[in-house]
Amino acid sequence: MSMIQSSVGRKIFMAVTGVMLLAFVGVHLLGNSSVFFGADAINAYAQKLHSLGPIVWIFRLVMLFLFVTHIIFGIQLTLENSAATPEKNIQIKRLRTGFAAQTMIISGLVLLAFVVYHLLHFTVRIPGMGVYEMNPATHMVNVYTMVIMGFKQAFTVLLYVVGMIFLALHVSHGFQSFFQTLGLNNDKSLPVFGALSKLVSVVLLFGYISIPLLIIFGLVK
Ligand code: HEM
Repeated sequence: MSMIQSSVGRKIFMAVTGVMLLAFVGVHLLGNSSVFFGADAINAYAQKLHSLGPIVWIFRLVMLFLFVTHIIFGIQLTLENSAATPEKNIQIKRLRTGFAAQTMIISGLVLLAFVVYHLLHFTVRIPGMGVYEMNPATHMVNVYTMVIMGFKQAFTVLLYVVGMIFLALHVSHGFQSFFQTLGLNNDKSLPVFGALSKLVSVVLLFGYISIPLLIIFGLVK
Protein backbone atom coordinates (compact mmCIF):
# COMPACT_ATOMS: atom_id res chain seq x y z
CA MET A 1 0.00 0.00 0.00
CA SER A 2 2.94 2.37 0.70
CA MET A 3 3.84 2.31 -3.03
CA ILE A 4 0.37 3.65 -3.82
CA GLN A 5 1.03 6.66 -1.60
CA SER A 6 3.57 7.91 -4.15
CA SER A 7 2.35 9.52 -7.33
CA VAL A 8 4.31 6.99 -9.48
CA GLY A 9 2.64 4.13 -7.60
CA ARG A 10 -0.76 5.68 -8.19
CA LYS A 11 -0.04 6.08 -11.91
CA ILE A 12 0.93 2.41 -12.19
CA PHE A 13 -2.20 1.42 -10.28
CA MET A 14 -4.32 3.59 -12.60
CA ALA A 15 -2.72 2.06 -15.67
CA VAL A 16 -3.38 -1.50 -14.47
CA THR A 17 -6.96 -0.84 -13.26
CA GLY A 18 -7.66 1.16 -16.45
CA VAL A 19 -6.58 -1.67 -18.73
CA MET A 20 -8.67 -4.16 -16.73
CA LEU A 21 -11.73 -1.89 -17.06
CA LEU A 22 -10.98 -1.63 -20.78
CA ALA A 23 -10.93 -5.44 -21.03
CA PHE A 24 -14.42 -5.47 -19.48
CA VAL A 25 -15.62 -2.83 -21.98
CA GLY A 26 -14.32 -4.97 -24.88
CA VAL A 27 -15.93 -8.19 -23.61
CA HIS A 28 -19.18 -6.34 -22.80
CA LEU A 29 -19.34 -5.08 -26.41
CA LEU A 30 -18.96 -8.66 -27.71
CA GLY A 31 -21.71 -9.84 -25.34
CA ASN A 32 -24.02 -6.95 -26.30
CA SER A 33 -23.53 -7.71 -29.99
CA SER A 34 -25.62 -10.84 -29.44
CA VAL A 35 -28.62 -8.45 -29.72
CA PHE A 36 -28.01 -8.58 -33.50
CA PHE A 37 -28.68 -12.34 -33.42
CA GLY A 38 -32.17 -11.89 -31.97
CA ALA A 39 -34.08 -12.23 -28.71
CA ASP A 40 -33.07 -15.83 -27.98
CA ALA A 41 -29.37 -15.10 -28.38
CA ILE A 42 -29.15 -12.14 -25.97
CA ASN A 43 -31.59 -13.64 -23.46
CA ALA A 44 -29.65 -16.93 -23.42
CA TYR A 45 -26.41 -14.99 -22.96
CA ALA A 46 -27.90 -12.99 -20.03
CA GLN A 47 -29.33 -16.16 -18.48
CA LYS A 48 -25.96 -17.90 -18.73
CA LEU A 49 -24.28 -14.98 -16.94
CA HIS A 50 -26.90 -14.83 -14.18
CA SER A 51 -26.74 -18.61 -13.67
CA LEU A 52 -23.13 -18.20 -12.48
CA GLY A 53 -24.61 -17.08 -9.13
CA PRO A 54 -21.95 -16.07 -6.57
CA ILE A 55 -19.28 -15.72 -9.29
CA VAL A 56 -21.30 -12.82 -10.73
CA TRP A 57 -21.22 -11.08 -7.35
CA ILE A 58 -17.47 -11.65 -6.88
CA PHE A 59 -16.94 -10.26 -10.38
CA ARG A 60 -19.14 -7.23 -9.59
CA LEU A 61 -17.22 -6.49 -6.38
CA VAL A 62 -13.87 -6.71 -8.19
CA MET A 63 -15.18 -4.40 -10.94
CA LEU A 64 -16.51 -1.94 -8.37
CA PHE A 65 -13.13 -1.90 -6.59
CA LEU A 66 -11.28 -1.28 -9.90
CA PHE A 67 -13.71 1.44 -10.94
CA VAL A 68 -13.75 3.30 -7.60
CA THR A 69 -9.95 3.21 -7.07
CA HIS A 70 -9.33 4.25 -10.69
CA ILE A 71 -11.59 7.30 -10.15
CA ILE A 72 -10.17 8.27 -6.73
CA PHE A 73 -6.56 8.08 -7.94
CA GLY A 74 -7.50 9.92 -11.14
CA ILE A 75 -8.96 12.80 -9.14
CA GLN A 76 -5.91 12.82 -6.82
CA LEU A 77 -3.45 12.88 -9.74
CA THR A 78 -5.37 15.69 -11.45
CA LEU A 79 -5.33 17.77 -8.27
CA GLU A 80 -1.60 17.11 -7.74
CA ASN A 81 -0.80 17.96 -11.36
CA SER A 82 -2.71 21.21 -11.29
CA ALA A 83 -1.06 22.19 -7.99
CA ALA A 84 2.36 21.46 -9.53
CA THR A 85 1.68 23.35 -12.77
CA PRO A 86 2.17 27.08 -12.34
CA GLU A 87 0.07 29.20 -14.72
CA LYS A 88 3.12 30.17 -16.81
CA ASN A 89 3.79 26.53 -17.76
CA ILE A 90 0.33 25.80 -19.10
CA GLN A 91 1.28 26.71 -22.66
CA ILE A 92 4.26 24.30 -22.57
CA LYS A 93 2.05 21.49 -21.28
CA ARG A 94 -0.54 22.07 -24.02
CA LEU A 95 2.10 21.90 -26.71
CA ARG A 96 3.21 18.46 -25.54
CA THR A 97 -0.18 16.82 -25.10
CA GLY A 98 -3.36 16.53 -27.08
CA PHE A 99 -7.00 17.31 -26.41
CA ALA A 100 -7.82 13.78 -25.12
CA ALA A 101 -4.90 13.93 -22.66
CA GLN A 102 -5.90 17.33 -21.28
CA THR A 103 -9.53 16.34 -20.82
CA MET A 104 -9.04 12.94 -19.11
CA ILE A 105 -10.65 14.10 -15.87
CA ILE A 106 -13.67 15.51 -17.77
CA SER A 107 -14.17 12.45 -20.00
CA GLY A 108 -13.66 10.23 -16.92
CA LEU A 109 -16.30 12.06 -14.87
CA VAL A 110 -18.77 12.03 -17.80
CA LEU A 111 -18.18 8.25 -18.06
CA LEU A 112 -18.88 7.88 -14.34
CA ALA A 113 -22.22 9.68 -14.84
CA PHE A 114 -22.94 7.46 -17.87
CA VAL A 115 -22.19 4.24 -15.95
CA VAL A 116 -24.44 5.31 -13.03
CA TYR A 117 -27.28 6.09 -15.47
CA HIS A 118 -26.66 2.83 -17.41
CA LEU A 119 -26.71 0.69 -14.25
CA LEU A 120 -29.96 2.29 -13.08
CA HIS A 121 -31.42 1.69 -16.56
CA PHE A 122 -30.32 -1.90 -17.33
CA THR A 123 -29.09 -3.48 -14.07
CA VAL A 124 -31.05 -1.94 -11.17
CA ARG A 125 -34.00 -1.35 -13.56
CA ILE A 126 -35.69 1.60 -11.91
CA PRO A 127 -39.42 1.37 -12.69
CA GLY A 128 -40.32 3.97 -15.30
CA MET A 129 -36.82 4.11 -16.79
CA GLY A 130 -37.47 1.25 -19.20
CA VAL A 131 -39.62 -1.73 -20.18
CA TYR A 132 -38.92 -4.64 -17.83
CA GLU A 133 -40.93 -7.71 -18.87
CA MET A 134 -40.44 -10.68 -16.53
CA ASN A 135 -40.25 -14.22 -17.89
CA PRO A 136 -42.20 -16.31 -15.32
CA ALA A 137 -40.35 -19.51 -16.32
CA THR A 138 -36.82 -18.17 -15.77
CA HIS A 139 -37.66 -15.33 -13.30
CA MET A 140 -35.48 -13.16 -15.49
CA VAL A 141 -36.13 -9.92 -17.28
CA ASN A 142 -36.49 -10.07 -21.08
CA VAL A 143 -33.17 -8.35 -21.88
CA TYR A 144 -33.95 -8.18 -25.61
CA THR A 145 -37.22 -6.25 -25.07
CA MET A 146 -35.52 -4.04 -22.46
CA VAL A 147 -32.73 -3.06 -24.90
CA ILE A 148 -34.95 -2.66 -27.99
CA MET A 149 -37.62 -0.62 -26.18
CA GLY A 150 -34.92 1.42 -24.40
CA PHE A 151 -33.35 2.45 -27.70
CA LYS A 152 -36.64 3.49 -29.27
CA GLN A 153 -36.40 6.66 -27.15
CA ALA A 154 -34.44 9.40 -28.92
CA PHE A 155 -33.23 10.98 -25.66
CA THR A 156 -31.87 7.66 -24.35
CA VAL A 157 -30.06 7.05 -27.66
CA LEU A 158 -28.58 10.55 -27.45
CA LEU A 159 -27.28 9.90 -23.90
CA TYR A 160 -25.68 6.61 -25.03
CA VAL A 161 -24.08 8.17 -28.11
CA VAL A 162 -22.67 11.07 -26.07
CA GLY A 163 -21.46 8.60 -23.39
CA MET A 164 -19.70 6.51 -26.05
CA ILE A 165 -17.98 9.58 -27.55
CA PHE A 166 -16.49 10.32 -24.13
CA LEU A 167 -15.56 6.64 -23.71
CA ALA A 168 -13.66 6.77 -27.02
CA LEU A 169 -11.94 10.02 -26.04
CA HIS A 170 -10.91 8.58 -22.66
CA VAL A 171 -9.61 5.29 -24.13
CA SER A 172 -7.78 7.02 -27.01
CA HIS A 173 -5.43 8.61 -24.49
CA GLY A 174 -5.78 6.15 -21.59
CA PHE A 175 -4.68 3.02 -23.45
CA GLN A 176 -1.63 4.78 -24.88
CA SER A 177 -0.83 6.09 -21.40
CA PHE A 178 -0.82 2.51 -20.05
CA PHE A 179 2.23 1.65 -22.20
CA GLN A 180 3.91 4.95 -21.29
CA THR A 181 3.42 4.44 -17.53
CA LEU A 182 4.72 0.88 -17.63
CA GLY A 183 7.83 2.14 -19.45
CA LEU A 184 7.12 0.16 -22.61
CA ASN A 185 7.39 3.18 -24.88
CA ASN A 186 10.42 4.04 -26.97
CA ASP A 187 10.86 6.05 -30.19
CA LYS A 188 9.82 3.07 -32.30
CA SER A 189 6.89 1.79 -30.25
CA LEU A 190 5.39 5.22 -29.43
CA PRO A 191 3.62 5.71 -32.80
CA VAL A 192 2.52 2.05 -32.81
CA PHE A 193 0.87 2.27 -29.38
CA GLY A 194 -0.60 5.66 -30.32
CA ALA A 195 -2.20 4.19 -33.45
CA LEU A 196 -3.36 1.08 -31.55
CA SER A 197 -5.05 3.27 -28.94
CA LYS A 198 -6.89 5.27 -31.61
CA LEU A 199 -7.95 2.06 -33.37
CA VAL A 200 -9.31 0.53 -30.15
CA SER A 201 -11.25 3.71 -29.34
CA VAL A 202 -12.76 3.91 -32.86
CA VAL A 203 -13.80 0.21 -32.74
CA LEU A 204 -15.43 0.76 -29.33
CA LEU A 205 -17.17 3.94 -30.51
CA PHE A 206 -18.66 2.44 -33.68
CA GLY A 207 -19.29 -0.95 -32.09
CA TYR A 208 -21.22 0.51 -29.17
CA ILE A 209 -23.15 3.27 -30.97
CA SER A 210 -24.22 0.82 -33.69
CA ILE A 211 -26.55 -0.87 -31.15
CA PRO A 212 -28.77 2.13 -30.23
CA LEU A 213 -28.54 3.65 -33.74
CA LEU A 214 -29.53 0.47 -35.63
CA ILE A 215 -32.42 0.03 -33.21
CA ILE A 216 -33.78 3.59 -33.40
CA PHE A 217 -33.52 3.57 -37.20
CA GLY A 218 -35.54 0.34 -37.26
CA LEU A 219 -32.78 -1.88 -38.72
CA VAL A 220 -32.86 -4.14 -35.64
CA LYS A 221 -36.41 -4.87 -34.50
C1 HEM B 1 -24.85 0.41 -26.44
C2 HEM B 1 -24.18 0.30 -25.34
C3 HEM B 1 -24.49 -0.68 -24.24
C4 HEM B 1 -25.48 -1.63 -24.13
C5 HEM B 1 -26.57 -1.99 -25.13
C6 HEM B 1 -25.32 -2.28 -22.85
C7 HEM B 1 -26.14 -3.29 -22.35
C8 HEM B 1 -26.14 -3.76 -21.07
C9 HEM B 1 -27.11 -4.67 -20.50
C10 HEM B 1 -28.30 -5.27 -21.24
C11 HEM B 1 -26.77 -4.88 -19.20
C12 HEM B 1 -27.52 -5.75 -18.16
C13 HEM B 1 -27.11 -7.19 -18.33
C14 HEM B 1 -27.94 -8.10 -17.45
O1 HEM B 1 -28.26 -7.75 -16.31
O2 HEM B 1 -28.26 -9.19 -17.92
C15 HEM B 1 -25.56 -4.10 -18.93
C16 HEM B 1 -24.88 -4.08 -17.73
C17 HEM B 1 -23.71 -3.37 -17.52
N1 HEM B 1 -23.06 -2.53 -18.39
FE1 HEM B 1 -23.63 -2.16 -20.29
N2 HEM B 1 -24.21 -1.74 -22.21
C18 HEM B 1 -23.69 -0.75 -23.01
C19 HEM B 1 -22.57 0.03 -22.76
C20 HEM B 1 -21.80 -0.04 -21.61
C21 HEM B 1 -20.55 0.66 -21.38
C22 HEM B 1 -19.88 1.60 -22.38
C23 HEM B 1 -20.12 0.33 -20.14
C24 HEM B 1 -18.89 0.78 -19.39
C25 HEM B 1 -18.22 1.90 -19.63
C26 HEM B 1 -21.07 -0.59 -19.58
C27 HEM B 1 -21.00 -1.14 -18.32
C28 HEM B 1 -21.93 -2.02 -17.78
C29 HEM B 1 -21.83 -2.56 -16.44
C30 HEM B 1 -20.73 -2.26 -15.41
C31 HEM B 1 -22.94 -3.42 -16.27
C32 HEM B 1 -23.33 -4.23 -15.03
C33 HEM B 1 -22.81 -5.64 -15.17
C34 HEM B 1 -23.35 -6.48 -14.03
O3 HEM B 1 -24.55 -6.72 -13.99
O4 HEM B 1 -22.57 -6.87 -13.19
N3 HEM B 1 -22.07 -0.82 -20.50
N4 HEM B 1 -25.19 -3.43 -20.08
